Amino acid sequence: MARAVLIAFAALLVAGCGGEKTVEPTGPVVGTLPKVGKANPAAGKKVFADNGCGGCHTLQAAGASGQIGPDLDKVLKGKDAEFIKTSISDPNAEIAPGYQPNVMPQSYGSELTSQQLNDLVAFLQTG
Ligand code: HEC
Repeated sequence: MARAVLIAFAALLVAGCGGEKTVEPTGPVVGTLPKVGKANPAAGKKVFADNGCGGCHTLQAAGASGQIGPDLDKVLKGKDAEFIKTSISDPNAEIAPGYQPNVMPQSYGSELTSQQLNDLVAFLQTG
């Protein structure tokens, strides 16, 4: 049972690395996977670009310099995945100090798949 999970995970790793054969499955990795799942920051960068986030937000990692919303390089320091996720899928849940509600689109929670959302959060956390 645990072994099957391990093998599936190893297969994923191998697939993710374009078929490199040097990946060795290690037991403890399975137990320490982040709660958010196999999020992919590189895919998240594309989600950021494709959804116009940079039109409103500054984020160096994305080459974005929008001024309408908070500078994500500054405000997301130390924020956890859950906070970032909620900020995107339900922007009015908590309004950043000094900003107005209903400026950031309320539609991302329904437009983005949960995979896209997780990728996006992972990207924002690495930035
Ligand atoms: C039309 C402009 C606009 C767009 C497009 C937009 N945002 Fe925002 N965003 C804002 C504004 C204004 C705020 C501050 C008000 C608030 O907290 O909802 C904000 C807040 C946030 C916050 C919370 C920051 C904090 O300190 O609480 C995050 C994270 C965020 N946006 C990420 C994104 C991402 C990722 C996208 C693209 C999927 C995006 N935004 C698209 C305007 C925008």
